Amino acid sequence: MAKSRASQIKIRLSSVILPVFVIVLTARMGSLVTSACNALFNLQWWQAGLALLVVYKVIQWLVWLTSTESVKGKVAVITGGGSGLGRLMALNLAKQDAVVVLVDINRKGLVDVVNEIAAFNGLAYAHLCDVTDRDAVYSLAEQISATVGPVDIVINNAGVVSGKSLLEVSDAMAELTFDVNAVAHFWFVKAFLPSMLVRNSGHIVSIASAAGLAGVVGLSDYCASKFAAIGLMEALRLELARQNSEVKTTTVMPFYINTGMFDGASGIPFILPILDAQETADRIVLAIQRGEKMLYLPPILGFVSLLRGIMPIGLFDYLSTLLGISASMDQFKGRGQDWHEGADNSVSITDESDDEF
Ligand SMILES: NC(=O)c1ccc[n+]([C@@H]2O[C@H](COP(=O)([O-])OP(=O)(O)OC[C@H]3O[C@@H](n4cnc5c(N)ncnc54)[C@H](O)[C@@H]3O)[C@@H](O)[C@H]2O)c1
Repeated sequence: MAKSRASQIKIRLSSVILPVFVIVLTARMGSLVTSACNALFNLQWWQAGLALLVVYKVIQWLVWLTSTESVKGKVAVITGGGSGLGRLMALNLAKQDAVVVLVDINRKGLVDVVNEIAAFNGLAYAHLCDVTDRDAVYSLAEQISATVGPVDIVINNAGVVSGKSLLEVSDAMAELTFDVNAVAHFWFVKAFLPSMLVRNSGHIVSIASAAGLAGVVGLSDYCASKFAAIGLMEALRLELARQNSEVKTTTVMPFYINTGMFDGASGIPFILPILDAQETADRIVLAIQRGEKMLYLPPILGFVSLLRGIMPIGLFDYLSTLLGISASMDQFKGRGQDWHEGADNSVSITDESDDEF
């Protein structure tokens, strides 16, 4: 409680009181400042005040840009850590001496990533767990807290995509998409947030998607699940702010990435190219270390909601078609059917004898 009050004072100081103080001080010392500024730059006191405010804000921004929080010794749980972005984020964090806990249904992927991390003497644990199984998630959280220690970072990254239009996607697949991409985020947040609140520190990360900002043809179930994931994070962020909590959140909204999940999907040259998986994973880890609340990849995606708000919706839809976003899933192949059905890549999680390694 004392810590959160201190941080509240710190925030007020840095964002409101200090700039106002700079202007008032400059005004009070009007004649002195005016003559000094006249001598130097020929500025009035209020112009000098504004200039000082700008300089102050630039310095504040530079400090933020260059300061990253160390993850050394921190425990990071990554769902979907056996492949793609999850694997790359795990390697990045482990190289920075974080303790990585991978959760996935892909046994081979888990084993491979643990071995990759062990090869450079990093510390990693892996758990075979279906993130949609609420009870399994809750008992896994207890197990992790008891054996590895309190969790500092939770990255809700596991995801699935069908790439089918609304009437083509099976009921089961639509439900699975929601369960993995959005509902499971509740279970992981509910499992780990209480302990973070007690410690008044921690970080919840959601790997959402640009598909959570605008609808795309062939992605109705996926878009809906990602809109839900973004909504969850926005409400959570505000709930934490109301409690003056130091627990941080980062919502990530990337365009297509070359991990394999969206194989065949097309980018838009110059405006929205397909993202590189390694660069994306590294940028996400940096955002976590900087405490960035929202990460649009590429940054131009930050204008999507604004454009939808100010444009006639017909024009917004026309723009989506004109730019090729509507047709971006036309050649989608993805990882193939078996990936989600678990035929080749996954193991049954009923094999509880061997679910931690
Ligand atoms: N690849 C892209 O173009 C792209 C773009 C935007 C957002 N994203 C999001 O990024 C995240 C990572 O995607 P990726 O590209 O690395 O895909 P990926 O397929 O390589 O990784 C997803 C991982 O989630 C795991 N997973 C799936 N269902 C699970 C379940 N029920 N329980 C536990 N684990 C499960 C898979 O086994 C896999 O290891 C996803 O949430 C995805 O929606 C991807």
